[in-house]
Amino acid sequence: MSEIQRVGVVGCGLMGSGIAEVCARAGLDVIVREIDAGAAEAGQKRIIASLDRGVRSTKISETDRDAALARIHVTTDLADLADRQLVVEAVIEDESLKTEVFAALDKVIVDDHAILASNTSSIPVMKLGMATSRPEQVVGIHFFNPVPVLRLVEVVTSLLTSPETVAAAQDFATNTLHKRVIRSQDRAGFIVNALLVPYILSAVRMMESGFASAEDIDTGMVEGCNHPMGPLHLADLIGLDTCQAVADSLYTEFKEPLYASPPLLSRMVEAGLLGRKVGRGFYDYSVKG
Ligand SMILES: NC(=O)c1ccc[n+]([C@@H]2O[C@H](COP(=O)([O-])OP(=O)(O)OC[C@H]3O[C@@H](n4cnc5c(N)ncnc54)[C@H](O)[C@@H]3O)[C@@H](O)[C@H]2O)c1
Repeated sequence: MSEIQRVGVVGCGLMGSGIAEVCARAGLDVIVREIDAGAAEAGQKRIIASLDRGVRSTKISETDRDAALARIHVTTDLADLADRQLVVEAVIEDESLKTEVFAALDKVIVDDHAILASNTSSIPVMKLGMATSRPEQVVGIHFFNPVPVLRLVEVVTSLLTSPETVAAAQDFATNTLHKRVIRSQDRAGFIVNALLVPYILSAVRMMESGFASAEDIDTGMVEGCNHPMGPLHLADLIGLDTCQAVADSLYTEFKEPLYASPPLLSRMVEAGLLGRKVGRGFYDYSVKG
């Protein structure tokens, strides 16, 4: 059993709420930091809705739901994370914001052995580590969406991450959270997004050029390749702002056209059509079918 008992999560959006939930369900004490009271309340509601879905589908009991909820405390004050042994940062995919968060965490976290992890999909871990005075304790712990459902975690090590930190992160994900860990070196996009994002961008280009409809592109991959959902549905699930931000990190790193965000994706992000989380992206989710 990992020695980590006190976990902090920064950001309680799609991913932070899921990370807080799985940690609390594993019996850990969790403090989640959001930016303001409104975002904190929205994050808490997201956690409750997910736990309620777990109860409805009989994956967890009402008692376990209530116990998990009692272990999660939401705050707007980063200083409340001072005693955490592990912090997982899950704010939006913005390098300068994440760098700021790591610099602030470095000042706030008291435990000399604490691990500072990022759930970034694409930003090199080294850049986050160098914002702190302890880059050897900074590691990528990249969960997948929805966190309570998908087992995979990528553990990403920078050139400066210590073997002890990597071992502790891997042990935590494997033995405490019962996730399946794969290891990646520190290149933008790591393993999964370096493969997935060009696929999603190709689907957007295909639709943008009038080559095929969103429905036909998705049906093609679901019925023809047995994928659980098509690329445009998946983009809506991830969030189009996140897809674009990840593509931009990959493009910055590799300068390959296959990572360049297509104009349609940029226009949709500018229009606020961010996918399922706002009710509309490539598909309309406002009317439940
Ligand atoms: N969406 C996905 O499918 C997915 C999958 C794996 C990893 N990720 C990564 O997880 C991270 C979060 O993505 P998301 O989809 O949860 O985004 P999201 O937009 O749903 O949530 C981000 C949250 O961070 C909060 N936030 C912003 N600044 C903050 C700060 N300084 N302190 C605390 N909270 C702050 C926002 O209020 C928001 O609630 C990103 O790095 C993303 O690349 C996303």
